[in-house]
Amino acid sequence: MPSSVRSPKDFFRPLAVGAPEPLREIPARPSRAIHFFDPSNEKMAAKVPQLVGTVDVLLGNLEDAVRADRKEAARDGLVKIARGTAGLGGEDASTQLWTRVNALDSPWVLDDLTALVTEIGDRLDVVMIPKVQGAEDIAYVDRLLAQLEARAGLTRPLLVHAILETARGVVNIEEICGASPRMQGLSLGPADLAADRRMKTTRVGGGHPGYLVRADPRRTSDGVDVEGDRATYQQDLWHYTISRMVDACAAHGIFPYYGPFGDIADVVACEDQFRNAYLLGCVGAWSLHPEQIEIAHRVFSPTVEDIAHARRVVAAMGDGTAAVMLDGKMEDDASLKQCLVLVELAEQLAERDPELKKLYDAIPGAGASDEQGEA
Ligand code: GLV
Ligand code: MG
Repeated sequence: MPSSVRSPKDFFRPLAVGAPEPLREIPARPSRAIHFFDPSNEKMAAKVPQLVGTVDVLLGNLEDAVRADRKEAARDGLVKIARGTAGLGGEDASTQLWTRVNALDSPWVLDDLTALVTEIGDRLDVVMIPKVQGAEDIAYVDRLLAQLEARAGLTRPLLVHAILETARGVVNIEEICGASPRMQGLSLGPADLAADRRMKTTRVGGGHPGYLVRADPRRTSDGVDVEGDRATYQQDLWHYTISRMVDACAAHGIFPYYGPFGDIADVVACEDQFRNAYLLGCVGAWSLHPEQIEIAHRVFSPTVEDIAHARRVVAAMGDGTAAVMLDGKMEDDASLKQCLVLVELAEQLAERDPELKKLYDAIPGAGASDEQGEA
């Protein structure tokens, strides 16, 4: 065991006298859209109360995209919003309240954490830490949060979410996920990550037309190239990173998220990126514009068709062993487990989203054919 890692016996002990006990399991609260707002922007701040109840997570952003001379106004604005907005943040709130504090090497982060935890710690659900490099960053935040929780007399531990946006962070991804029982999840930070990796893109998330594969040339039987178009297929720049995030998070019982998609007008490509992330195992994405909330809520909720099929498989599989044939396809213990992931997610989301509940409740009863399969 590396000396920097606590003994398993001590892992769940509070890191400060009087701090709340860490959670043993991270609650699966709906967080399909994490909607960013700048608390120093009065126009944006005024819209926050109307968004409560319409989005899973509202995040008061203090880091990038907030001007250096507005950092304190953003911090103060967030305290005011958290105190003055009913139904926002806290254990039973319909909309969670998260924040993204400034980076750990910035002059603002110590005051960000001190002010937010001591003044609105009971309303905050998750603290997002940008540009995390390794377990040592999480250890620093972990101890500091415990000290501040104790000072504020909080009874519920704050959770920590790391943005994966440095090459070193990607290299250390597993140890970051396992660095503290506070770890709630990871988000992809494609803009900073691209810069840190020295990728040659200039975008915030999404694909690039230059990153592609091309179909082989067509050739005659004697090996002569035939003139004509060769189809090209754009590839996903983020597939590798998201896949690593999904494995690291699943292995540690925490949640992976797609991050920002900067081309607000391109709702189609945004939906595609979000859906790829959903299919690979992510539970949500950031929203930078109200239009992206609807996209994320829709994409990160199982479809009615998927739930109808999943319920049929569950019903047909009885005690969950052996194999059955449904519509000519073999279903067995393993496909049942995939279906249960979808059914469980649908139940969690429907508990908080009455529209979704109506949709899932309207799915007609399950029925399996009698065909028997071998597997
Ligand atoms: C998000 O913070 C990013 O850098 O993409
Ligand atoms: Mg960033």
